[in-house]
Amino acid sequence: MSQVSLEDRDAEASLAHARARSARLEAAFDRDPSGYRVLTGDRPTGPLHLGHYFGTLLNRVRLQNLGVQTIVVVADYQTIIDRDSPSSLPGDVDELVADYLAVGIDPHRTTVFAHSQVPELNQLMIPFLSLVSVPELARNPTVKEETVASGLPVASGLLFTYPVHQAADILFCHGNVVPVGRDQLPHLEMTRLIARRFNQRYSPGEPFFGEPEALLSDAPRLLGTDGQKMSKSRNNAIAIGATEDQTARLIRAAKTDSNRRITYDPIGRPEVSNLVLLAALCLGREPRDVAEEIGSGGSSALKRVLTEAVNERLRSVRSSRSALIEDRSVLREVITAGTETAGAMATETLRSVRRLMHTIY
Ligand code: TRP
Repeated sequence: MSQVSLEDRDAEASLAHARARSARLEAAFDRDPSGYRVLTGDRPTGPLHLGHYFGTLLNRVRLQNLGVQTIVVVADYQTIIDRDSPSSLPGDVDELVADYLAVGIDPHRTTVFAHSQVPELNQLMIPFLSLVSVPELARNPTVKEETVASGLPVASGLLFTYPVHQAADILFCHGNVVPVGRDQLPHLEMTRLIARRFNQRYSPGEPFFGEPEALLSDAPRLLGTDGQKMSKSRNNAIAIGATEDQTARLIRAAKTDSNRRITYDPIGRPEVSNLVLLAALCLGREPRDVAEEIGSGGSSALKRVLTEAVNERLRSVRSSRSALIEDRSVLREVITAGTETAGAMATETLRSVRRLMHTIY
């Protein structure tokens, strides 16, 4: 029992620290964007949805446009933590990269690569694994949740250790800012621990790895159209690349309540308020104003407003996305160029790591 509360306290402290640091980082970007290298990524497990769009993608584009160097990892090795590698993976990677480009990630300014394609990055996992203990790995709450969610009786070795692999994703390029949601904070703590221990053990005079900082997004939490956690597998998320008809259908089936008057009350009326919030985000307006305007129009008016708002907001994104998927050559070029850039960084880092570890013969 005391163990649990201790962990809760750690998590709260880590969250409070990350929030304070994030505010200071934002101010620092404005002053000198060139001092920062952002590393972030996604698992290619299906198309990205509006939760990603408002939660992380717009933020990445904003940072890129501020002039902060940004590297995005397509975390394909993280898809095999709890399943076999599916034959759909190449297509899934294309879809993910198409989402990135369509929302405004510019491959001339942002490096996009898949970590399976960069052997030197993966090789960092061996020394990194030597720097953490089994109990430290076992304590990671996100891994625990994913183990339960996987439905498997026990975790695979990769599921148990992937936060160490994620440290390699971040440290291979000396990323110093990692935009994340709360669930990723334990992984970032592990990355910082690995950086610290590597320095203590192999580079005590002059730290080789910096300790990256979390940049917590202040984006509101969106629910799925059924009022549950938004998730690809629940079919309750509006994909960025969905058609207008698919969007309309999903919204038509969305859960509401029996109160005819539309209000914004996230605690008392989570489902209706979530739809209002989504419409407000798409329209760039305040949720309360949107609710007020719909008023006694009821859920059918709310759904009409929302469908139009989403489709209008994503129209140009979707048309660039279809063009990219139609002719995939641009997507291929982006991945190839990204692999080259990331590969050069990883090679250089691994060379230094080998030197520091006395493994050059
Ligand atoms: N674990 C992240 C997720 O599930 C994806 C990811 C992989 C990542 N490597 C990363 C995120 C490095 C930030 C930094 O969404």
